[in-house]
Amino acid sequence: MQHAPLPPASWKSAAAAVFLFAGTEPAFSPALQKAAPWLKDSPGLADFHAAKGEALMLYGPKSSPMPRILLLGLGQRKGPLEDTLYALRDAAAKASRLCREARLPNFAFSLPDLAALDEDAADGNAAIILREAVFGALAGLYRQTQYKSAKALAADAADPELMLLCEEELSPDLAAALDEAQAGAEGVIWAKELINGPANRITPAYIAKEAERLADASPDVSCRTLGPDELRSEGMGALLAVAKGSANPPRLVVLDYAPLGHENDDPLVLIGKGLTFDSGGLCLKPGKSMVTMKEDMSGAAAVLGVFKAVARLRPQCRIAGLLPCVENMPGPSAARPGDVAATLAGHTVEITNTDAEGRLVLCDALAYAQKIWHPRAMVDIATLTGACVVALGQHTAGAFSRDPLLPERILDIGRTVGERFWPLPLWDLYFEGLKSQTADFANSGPREGGACIAAAFLARFVEPDIRWIHLDIAGPAFFTEEGKKEASGFAVRTLLHFALQK
Ligand code: BES
Ligand code: MN
Ligand code: ZN
Repeated sequence: MQHAPLPPASWKSAAAAVFLFAGTEPAFSPALQKAAPWLKDSPGLADFHAAKGEALMLYGPKSSPMPRILLLGLGQRKGPLEDTLYALRDAAAKASRLCREARLPNFAFSLPDLAALDEDAADGNAAIILREAVFGALAGLYRQTQYKSAKALAADAADPELMLLCEEELSPDLAAALDEAQAGAEGVIWAKELINGPANRITPAYIAKEAERLADASPDVSCRTLGPDELRSEGMGALLAVAKGSANPPRLVVLDYAPLGHENDDPLVLIGKGLTFDSGGLCLKPGKSMVTMKEDMSGAAAVLGVFKAVARLRPQCRIAGLLPCVENMPGPSAARPGDVAATLAGHTVEITNTDAEGRLVLCDALAYAQKIWHPRAMVDIATLTGACVVALGQHTAGAFSRDPLLPERILDIGRTVGERFWPLPLWDLYFEGLKSQTADFANSGPREGGACIAAAFLARFVEPDIRWIHLDIAGPAFFTEEGKKEASGFAVRTLLHFALQK
């Protein structure tokens, strides 16, 4: 993405996208008016009403250095900033797609016009507005192409380049916002590619290779992978019990971002559920609920997305990642209902439902994180329960924590990046549902409150002095803002911003 400060008379791009609120006269910055003097006389201005989702391309003379202005409606300005940001991300995504459809080589945002969207022109909000507009435009260009044949792709247009037009050098705040937007978009797109990728390609070994490739390309990131033998000698019996029914052996990927001078810091640890496919195991899912279960590694993909962005932004703090990658299949050596697994933490667990496999792989990962590190904070991200989707709907993730501050921080960050988290309880009473005659406790209990019961199970594996939050992203991981059933890259941006804040 280009951005060089230039006087407006030298601004040049195939199109400039301008975002406008409904109910007010369209106003353009003096700079934009100088760059596109034809704009004020365009008859199209009268046809545009700035309704949410509305888009209109205005054309100036062919000889103009800025021959097109793309107007995008944000609807009425009302409610909190987060509502404006939802409309802005959508409109920015629409802008970049329209410019691609028009086969334009590039399109631009004008910084003074973006900054004018901020009512009180506070610099903090201006940076957020720039960040979200740029993120929306870049992430909006994502499309699923990897698994289409060359013939199917032949007619596709190339992505236009996004430019930022400004008169002065960017302030450090704005420059940081721009970097975060670009790195965030890259992380989200990578996560989406991994999640949308079919389970016959995206196996545990494949995810481990991708993580190693990222580490090889990034000076401060290292990666280590544990295979079945190492997992056995470590004693991760719960993770291995889930892996037993599959021909694709499990991997535990250990990522470590440790910049110079921070090699021995206590890390922030991000743990992502990496079920490359969840058939349910012997407690087989019905076909209708199984068909999207390649999404069950969305937590792991989100952590990889964060690491990709972190490797680029290089914050001054240590961040570790743990990806338990397993396929849950009903093969001949699959775990049976009633089997007992010995966890790394020492608890024995009766597997009363082989479809409650996420907590089994996560409990060993949580224990391992606390064995090899003393986490400064620990976040696990998992498509853990259908019950969480029933409770909160597709748009919203559940946040479970006993920490007095963590949930509010995650919710607040989520509000500015367009990821909805909502707190759910983590009371001990939910653990009562997991009684077992045979083992210390069971891996599944009553349907009622299923998301909270799963969280209570995980809590058993976290030392009380560790700051920990569990994010159940079963709803939003495979559901986009437009309501499509596909990968959203959910949690990458919240966790990235959280990691950058230290
Ligand atoms: N991966 C599923 C949860 C899920 C459901 C993710 C829908 C995304 C969309 C998880 O492993 C699962 O099967 N959970 C069971 C738990 C039950 C058996 C206690 C569920 O939610 O039904
Ligand atoms: Mn399951
Ligand atoms: Zn699962």
